[in-house]
Amino acid sequence: MTPVEKPFSQACENNKEPILAILKTAFAGSTRVLEIGSGTGQHAVHFAGNLPHLHWQTSDLPENHAGIEQWLLDASLSNLSAPVALDVSQQAWPVGFDAVFTANTTHIMPWPAVVEMIARIGSRLPAGGVFCQYGPFKYNGDYTSPSNASFDRWLKEIDPARGIRDFEALRELADHAGLSLVEDHAMPANNQLLHWVKRG
Ligand SMILES: C[S@@+](CC[C@H](N)C(=O)[O-])C[C@H]1O[C@@H](n2cnc3c(N)ncnc32)[C@H](O)[C@@H]1O
Repeated sequence: MTPVEKPFSQACENNKEPILAILKTAFAGSTRVLEIGSGTGQHAVHFAGNLPHLHWQTSDLPENHAGIEQWLLDASLSNLSAPVALDVSQQAWPVGFDAVFTANTTHIMPWPAVVEMIARIGSRLPAGGVFCQYGPFKYNGDYTSPSNASFDRWLKEIDPARGIRDFEALRELADHAGLSLVEDHAMPANNQLLHWVKRG
């Protein structure tokens, strides 16, 4: 069998420190985090390594597991678990987490999958549970930068079901799922980190 090359994302290297700075506060009272769409696994290694009070559960579609496993193997962290297969549109979700993290997934998943993801996060998090969602978003129909407008056009050329989502639509989904916005953090490179909490 051909060995899988260890994947690498320069964007993850660039954004991991600013994201960590927010997660230190947002996840201060959390114990078990489910990461949706772990991608390369770089974020998981960085956040689990720097937030030792947390158990970090990676997940993604099966085609990304071999790459994530390489990052986990090299890091050898006791609070970081091998990826579970999770397609957010499917019923079978891991159980027993009190926080969720996802980065750069909402513009990749088709909108119906985003709807299901947020509904399922809301129904599975306990009261007080935290959801942190990183990526580019639109506000009142406007991009936060010309580069995000170009990025959105590029995404839709690849697949018309992809695209940068409206913050207001996400907030409506979150509200229906029992999630309230704690803070919308402006991040470097025209991204945001949305910090939600499950209402009691
Ligand atoms: C642009 S990558 C982001 C990866 C990583 N979180 C990052 O920030 O670099 C989008 C990720 O979403 C995952 N994804 C796409 N559709 C999904 C779905 N329906 N359920 C779960 N994950 C999905 C992809 O497999 C991929 O890992």
